[in-house]
Amino acid sequence: MRPLVATIDLNAVCHNYAVAKRCAPGREAFAVVKANAYGHGVREVVTALHDIADGFAVASLEEAAQVRAMHGQARILLLEGCFETVEVQLAQQLRLDIAVQNNQQLAAVLGAPEGQSLNIWLKLDSGMHRLGFDSTELRAAHQALRDSRHCNELNLMSHFACADERGHELTERQLECFLDVLDLDFNQRSLANSAAILTIPAAHMDWLRPGIMLYGATPFADLSVAELGLEPVMTLTAQLIAVRRVAKGESVGYGASWIASRDSVIGTVSCGYADGYPRHAPPGTEAVVNGQRVPLIGRVSMDMLTVDLTDLTAPAIGDSVELWGKQLPVDEVAQGAGTIGYELLTKVTARVPRRYLND
Ligand SMILES: Cc1ncc(COP(=O)(O)O)c(C=O)c1O
Repeated sequence: MRPLVATIDLNAVCHNYAVAKRCAPGREAFAVVKANAYGHGVREVVTALHDIADGFAVASLEEAAQVRAMHGQARILLLEGCFETVEVQLAQQLRLDIAVQNNQQLAAVLGAPEGQSLNIWLKLDSGMHRLGFDSTELRAAHQALRDSRHCNELNLMSHFACADERGHELTERQLECFLDVLDLDFNQRSLANSAAILTIPAAHMDWLRPGIMLYGATPFADLSVAELGLEPVMTLTAQLIAVRRVAKGESVGYGASWIASRDSVIGTVSCGYADGYPRHAPPGTEAVVNGQRVPLIGRVSMDMLTVDLTDLTAPAIGDSVELWGKQLPVDEVAQGAGTIGYELLTKVTARVPRRYLND
């Protein structure tokens, strides 16, 4: 078997969920498990959190149905609402909590045949300008839903654009905008993503929506997972599948873009961009071989990448190579590659087997 595996530590997911809850005592939390639980496997993550999580949040009805099949009771929040009128009926059947973020969605809810009434989360565009009603529209939507038999709980949600940049003035404005509509009668309120859970107590409201922190990555450029008390969840481990000497002046890999500045020992690693490793990771991005950090060299290819082993003692074919995980935070690799941990984690491809740790 090709030596590449993503080991997923489900105990760490539970630990990280508990950290989110500890940040905001007495509040409830939707574990955000959209996008296959940020690439970690929604089935396994929901199973691990089955008896712990207050609810789950997803991006599509298909994801919601998957979670409902695993959990009969949990609250499941459809973050972007229903994309077609017919989905409202399916949401009723699945007993979902749904966001309503524009007038089309509002009309679809109000026009649905009466069935199971839904917990509705009116989405306020508090300043991100991606989804949601402005304050005036939201007040009208509130009025339309308040006495509707389609609506069980009438709730409020919004989403931060810059909570990961501490002290950003937009965050302050978004919070004010949210507080401004709280003269309306809502059953529940939800505003905080991971960054806000960790650093903005005033935004905690009733329901948290932790995503990235559950998976042991940081939303912040300047605060590490260790500093936040979170545990890494995914460790992506490959092996050295070739080790060779390359003389000073010789090149390595596609485009012959990397040239040895000294006589070197080069390792070829069983992971490439078709596994989700970022092709644009520059030379110098680190990996861990036998517990020691080594730099990437040359271009990442589809199934392989190359590292400089010159400074290691006796590297050999079969040695393990951690691309990110317990020894090397995914955030460091992401930062080096000009992206974010979210992207690396969600892009680990289906051909990489996941191995689950749980006790
Ligand atoms: C509406 C909404 N809430 C919560 C989250 C979770 O955010 P994070 O992963 O930064 O905690 C997301 C993720 O993108 C989201 O779209």
